[in-house]
Amino acid sequence: MSKLLFASMMCANYDNLKKEVIELDKAGIDYFHCDIMDGEFVPNMTMGLQDIQSIRRNTSKKLDLHLMIENPGSKIDLFLNLGADMIFIHPESERYLSKTLAKIKSKGIKAGIAINPDTSIEFIKEILYLCDAVLIMTVNPGFAGQSFIDYVVNKVRKIVELKSEYGFDVIIDGSTSLERIRTLSEIGVDGFVLGTSSLFNKAESYKESIEIIRNI
Ligand code: DX5
Ligand code: ZN
Repeated sequence: MSKLLFASMMCANYDNLKKEVIELDKAGIDYFHCDIMDGEFVPNMTMGLQDIQSIRRNTSKKLDLHLMIENPGSKIDLFLNLGADMIFIHPESERYLSKTLAKIKSKGIKAGIAINPDTSIEFIKEILYLCDAVLIMTVNPGFAGQSFIDYVVNKVRKIVELKSEYGFDVIIDGSTSLERIRTLSEIGVDGFVLGTSSLFNKAESYKESIEIIRNI
């Protein structure tokens, strides 16, 4: 399966982050997905700037930042020089979406939107032309280990249909089990954020888990 695989680094073992990054890099992950939370947009706080810098120092693979923060445009300068390859912001928390997406792209960084389960396609349709990728949340953002929200699958189908018109990638974030990776791949999804449902805290090694997913 030639899908893009993103390791959800909020699920990693922080007792030895460097070891985790090197192991995931060797296991063949495509992106290191860094969930940034401010305790306002979502009721949680996870990774910080130093975690991103540590990951960046220890791999040449790509990094993407998922900013689950209020008013990302006012804080975006904190994230533009960390070596990220792609940055997702939430339209639910950004008043000047096109401005902030354009600023990210002006630094040569890919820009995308991450949308909550309850956010409609109508709410984002006008901005899709500016997006390199759309991150579709299949759980309410903020925590790992949640249950997949089934009604989002209909929205995934509709957004995948728009891909050819706008040229963005469709990435799924939240409770991406092997079975859901299989069914969503058949719909035409381009990539998956892998957390506790398919990669972390498993009996299999990261390498074995990624091989299993690649063979779906
Ligand atoms: C939610 C997080 C989680 C995480 C994946 O804000 O983005 O979705 O990446 O964790 P699991 O696979 O446990 O949902
Ligand atoms: Zn995420």
